[in-house]
Amino acid sequence: MTGKVIYRPAVFADVEALYHLLSAYAKEGLMLPRARSVLYENLRDFVVAEVDGEVVGAGALHFLWDKLAEVRSLAIAPEWAKKGLGREIVRRLEEDGRKFGVTMFFALTYQPGFFTACGYERAEKEMVPQKVWKECVYCPKYPDCDEIAMIKHIV
Ligand SMILES: CC(C)(COP(=O)(O)OP(=O)(O)OC[C@H]1O[C@@H](n2cnc3c(N)ncnc32)[C@H](O)[C@@H]1OP(=O)(O)O)[C@@H](O)C(=O)NCCC(=O)NCCS
Repeated sequence: MTGKVIYRPAVFADVEALYHLLSAYAKEGLMLPRARSVLYENLRDFVVAEVDGEVVGAGALHFLWDKLAEVRSLAIAPEWAKKGLGREIVRRLEEDGRKFGVTMFFALTYQPGFFTACGYERAEKEMVPQKVWKECVYCPKYPDCDEIAMIKHIV
């Protein structure tokens, strides 16, 4: 047992761990649940944090439009929270996004303080109409979504 955190792209074998990590926080209403089929379909979006063979954190970068990408499904196991894993996963997702030329990152969240600490600013959801019209309209909360939009422009 090294206790060393390894960050890497997600693989098929991670889907069960991702499913349980996200479902636990979805049950608390902190994030949207993701079906296993959606996790398989979007597996290449995910970066995971692994300790001694166990997935203890994850996050995904989902392309939505020209140079626009959403940071989503960001979750750190409670016993590993507040140790810098969330920030490192967001940094790596942004690094991947920049390689594709992403210039605007955004997230919908109940944790604006965390994203502020990662250099994001509050914004109006209307700034990302592609998200609203492609996904929000299918969300049970729509149009009374109480999540906060956070945005980071890369110049
Ligand atoms: C929110 C979450 C992803 C943060 O990850 P984490 O690994 O605990 O955060 P980090 O340790 O990387 O924190 C980075 C910075 O953000 C701050 N921070 C972390 N969580 C915060 C929160 N909920 N509110 C305000 N600031 C927060 C930390 O204090 C740290 O600040 P510092 O660098 O100035 O010390 C994690 O707590 C989590 O999985 N929460 C439950 C699921 C969830 O809400 N996911 C977000 C969905 S968008």
